[in-house]
Amino acid sequence: MQEMILILDFGSQVTQLIGRRLRELNVYCEIHPYNKIPDIGPNVKGVILSGSPFSVRDEKAPYVNLEGIKGRLPLLGICYGAQFISHHYGGEVNGSIAREYGRAMLTVVDEQSPLFKGVSKTSQVWMSHGDTIAKLPERARIIASTDDVENAAYKIEGEDTYAVQFHPEVYHTKEGPQILSNFALGICGCKGDWTPDSFIDNTVASLRKQLGDDKVILGLSGGVDSTVAAVLLNKAIGQHLTCIFVDNGLLRKNEFEDVLDSYKEMGLNVIGVHSGHLFLEKLKGVTDPEAKRKAIGSTFIEVFDAEAQKIEGARWLAQGTIYPDVIESVSVNGPSCKIKSHHNVGGLPEKMNLKIVEPLRSLFKDEVRRVGRALGIKRELIGRHPFPGPSLGIRILGEVTEEKLAILREADDIFIKGLRNWPCDLPSASYPNEMADNLYDSIWQAGTILLPVKSVGVMGDERSYEYTIALRAVISTDGMTADWVHLPYDFMAKVSNDIINKVKGVNRVCYDISSKPPATIEWE
Ligand code: XMP
Repeated sequence: MQEMILILDFGSQVTQLIGRRLRELNVYCEIHPYNKIPDIGPNVKGVILSGSPFSVRDEKAPYVNLEGIKGRLPLLGICYGAQFISHHYGGEVNGSIAREYGRAMLTVVDEQSPLFKGVSKTSQVWMSHGDTIAKLPERARIIASTDDVENAAYKIEGEDTYAVQFHPEVYHTKEGPQILSNFALGICGCKGDWTPDSFIDNTVASLRKQLGDDKVILGLSGGVDSTVAAVLLNKAIGQHLTCIFVDNGLLRKNEFEDVLDSYKEMGLNVIGVHSGHLFLEKLKGVTDPEAKRKAIGSTFIEVFDAEAQKIEGARWLAQGTIYPDVIESVSVNGPSCKIKSHHNVGGLPEKMNLKIVEPLRSLFKDEVRRVGRALGIKRELIGRHPFPGPSLGIRILGEVTEEKLAILREADDIFIKGLRNWPCDLPSASYPNEMADNLYDSIWQAGTILLPVKSVGVMGDERSYEYTIALRAVISTDGMTADWVHLPYDFMAKVSNDIINKVKGVNRVCYDISSKPPATIEWE
């Protein structure tokens, strides 16, 4: 069984980062809400308690019973976690002494402590706490301090329990990765052998065991997640997997054909369904953004369901659900109103009486890409920007028509190809620690929007009265917040010229310089 570290989430904004940092050390970990602790098997090598917006002194402060964990397994309390251990094991936490927010200098007091092995005697850490540990719990010993907070890190004698008041998981704690590595690889004794290759081997083996000779259906969207899920399943069960790729008539220029060809090249058993006419029919006269989304969503389910019914004996529906969706839906704060992705074909499994299989549900997005790369999927496919399920349907503001679709497809093609052909020396948006191949690769998501306004221009000697195209390019980590990209001026000049010269029906190009929030990435 895969060894792992269990992270108990008390609701901090940065709990996911603890997971990220451990995964970067090739240590598998899972984040669970403090009030839904899973069974702790022999594969759990250590436990981390996260931070929290609460104070341990609040009446409703999150509480976890550490019996069976503390003293038995290595335990690391971070921020609230550190205060929690103190508060419940004989120490004292109060709100009246030193508060610290932001950078602080940490001095290691116990240089022999395994938690600080290889860490500088003084180094910058990130603090974010209102309460302070005024008195340490029983048998505890200070191992590091800051100027304002004496009990910045402590260890409980006789057991592998450590606690740090600062956040080792955030970027501003300069030697945080070393501290987490000391805990996971040193104190917990993890091997650090969780790599894309080991993930593939383990997942393929467990999919074979889980699915046996059963037939599985999967909806491909052209996106990274469903593609990687399909290739993994194909490796596990081959032709027992049938993929359905729906052309909703709202895809980008040549997208359906190109992506379908790539799928076939990869040996996937894939059915391409042309049903653009049906979607356009349903969209006729619909202008409200939500009504458009609903029309597209329900038509997709209709088409998918009809195709899936043709596959006799199918027992499973595979989905490309990834870890942030899983954490999101079971988080301490409950599911948020985040828009779920298109391949999450809501309602279908119950309707068709299918069981769900989600081979990527333990991975973060860039891990999905790494696994995709290890599976040999082309870089163009795994490095593709996110694309919304309702496709260009929500990038044509107002009613969707064939004419507008044709204009938008051409403009979009010029923008996207332009990004792909423009060299740059920025980091890759898909692989945080690598350089981008080109401008496209450095951007998280880009697209074009057709505005429902016409404006006056002049072409040659003639007055024109045509549509406006808006360009959008953002950087983000998860789509929840986003910043507009400072595209090079000469690139924007070229794209604008190309679009206005080559796309009939457009005489003006704008660039969207709004961040999210308060704007959203899509315009509808
Ligand atoms: P917004 O516009 O909410 O978008 O800032 C955030 C991210 O979600 C994508 N998006 C969708 N994806 N179905 C999807 O599969 C949808 O209905 C949908 N709406 C927005 C958007 O492209 C961006 O990546």
